[in-house]
Amino acid sequence: MERTLVILKPDTVQRGLVGVITSRLEQRGIKLVGLKLLQISAELAARHYAVHKGKSFYEGLIHYITSSPVVVQCWEGKRVIEVVRRTCGSTNPTDADLGTIRADFGVEIGRNLIHASDGADTAAYEIPLYFTEAELVAWDRAVDCWINE
Ligand code: RTP
Ligand code: MG
Repeated sequence: MERTLVILKPDTVQRGLVGVITSRLEQRGIKLVGLKLLQISAELAARHYAVHKGKSFYEGLIHYITSSPVVVQCWEGKRVIEVVRRTCGSTNPTDADLGTIRADFGVEIGRNLIHASDGADTAAYEIPLYFTEAELVAWDRAVDCWINE
């Protein structure tokens, strides 16, 4: 089964939106298999966003993501990477479709509330940055047969 990494960014935690945004993901029917609150160090941020090093927004992005605690989550499900990305909406909240997390809760690209892995290779790189294999929980969900055919 596919897995993806989500980060509820510092603005989500500071604004008290952890519950409501996590609910959006739960309501899609995907399964939570990892969860923790942490403060991202400069070193971890540099590893996570290595692909963006050198871009104009890089320094601001590192400052933002390390500025306050975040909630990291690992979600599991069929095509979960795409499901979560589409639930988040476009990177810039003002371009995002209404009904997506970024559109419904944000107005600026530099405060866009949530990160989600953008592909299988990215998820495979990102998940171990935050979770050991032992921290990811395999569990049976009673309602699975009402969500997955
Ligand atoms: P994320 O990695 O956080 O899930 O976001 P994303 O894939 O939708 O966007 P990405 O291109 O990977 O950019 C990473 C984060 O950098 C900030 N950003 N700012 N000012 C800008 O032009 C700009 N572009 C990107 C955003 O916080 C974005 O989520
Ligand atoms: Mg990205």
